[in-house]
Amino acid sequence: MGKTIKEALNEARKVLSVVSDIPQKEAIILATHTLNVSETYLFLHEDDIFEKHEKFTTFVKRRGEGEPIEYITNKVSFYSREFFIDKGALIPRPETELLIDEVIKNVKEFQAEELCIAEIGTGSGIISIVLALLLPKAKVIATDISKAALKIAKSNIKKYALEDRIKLYHTSYLDGVHEDIDIIVSNPPYVSNDFKIDKPLEYEPKEAIFGGKKGDEILFDIISITKDKNVMLLACEMGYDQRDSISSYLTYKSLKDFYFYKDLAGLDRGFVVKI
Ligand SMILES: C[S@@+](CC[C@H](N)C(=O)[O-])C[C@H]1O[C@@H](n2cnc3c(N)ncnc32)[C@H](O)[C@@H]1O
Repeated sequence: MGKTIKEALNEARKVLSVVSDIPQKEAIILATHTLNVSETYLFLHEDDIFEKHEKFTTFVKRRGEGEPIEYITNKVSFYSREFFIDKGALIPRPETELLIDEVIKNVKEFQAEELCIAEIGTGSGIISIVLALLLPKAKVIATDISKAALKIAKSNIKKYALEDRIKLYHTSYLDGVHEDIDIIVSNPPYVSNDFKIDKPLEYEPKEAIFGGKKGDEILFDIISITKDKNVMLLACEMGYDQRDSISSYLTYKSLKDFYFYKDLAGLDRGFVVKI
């Protein structure tokens, strides 16, 4: 006799409690994903035999070994929307929603205009897509050096039917991009190369995490590129300990009108430059 849904969930909870603070919730997510049913269905059928139990066990084992749940379900939520995600791209983080808020706050008065936004390092495409949805007249250029990430971005752009408004470029920074840009936005890799990352981060692409010897090198490059272009705004996410170095670099580049914003934990998390 196979296991019932209730029994399988109990077993999974024990395995997941090693890696998760919410093992019951994660067991339910993996079960609904395996069976392609709702949470309500699971509870109404908890005494039924768990069909596809082997598949469920494989998912639970992967999660139990530390793999992020988003790479197992291929789903991630960002800015209250669902996106496709896979190992080729960084899993969007909740704090990156603040970067979107900062851009929107600063372009409010231009919302009706046909702005051109460039995103450097689009990964799964979430920033470009949410900005395009919130600014219906804007056009977006999204670049990335990773072909795997661009493939994921492409499928998300298709999901939201934004193919006409978001143009993907496989390039470094804005190399080969000749459009007139109004806003540059980026959540680039900003962790120093020798930082010892936690196990779940090991599943994510290295080129999405490490930003150089000190970690702020890519941010410096983005600031320099922005300075050379005729844009009105630059908004970037950064590491919590990079405020001083970024502030010095902006001043060195004669960019004076800038501020830093904090994340929900009260840590410095990004900056906005009005040019
Ligand atoms: C921290 S991830 C951010 C992904 C996504 N924008 C997000 O916020 O979830 C940084 C992304 O920048 C890309 N990247 C790294 N160096 C780059 C460069 N020189 N030019 C363009 N993209 C780059 C990486 O491949 C990765 O997809």
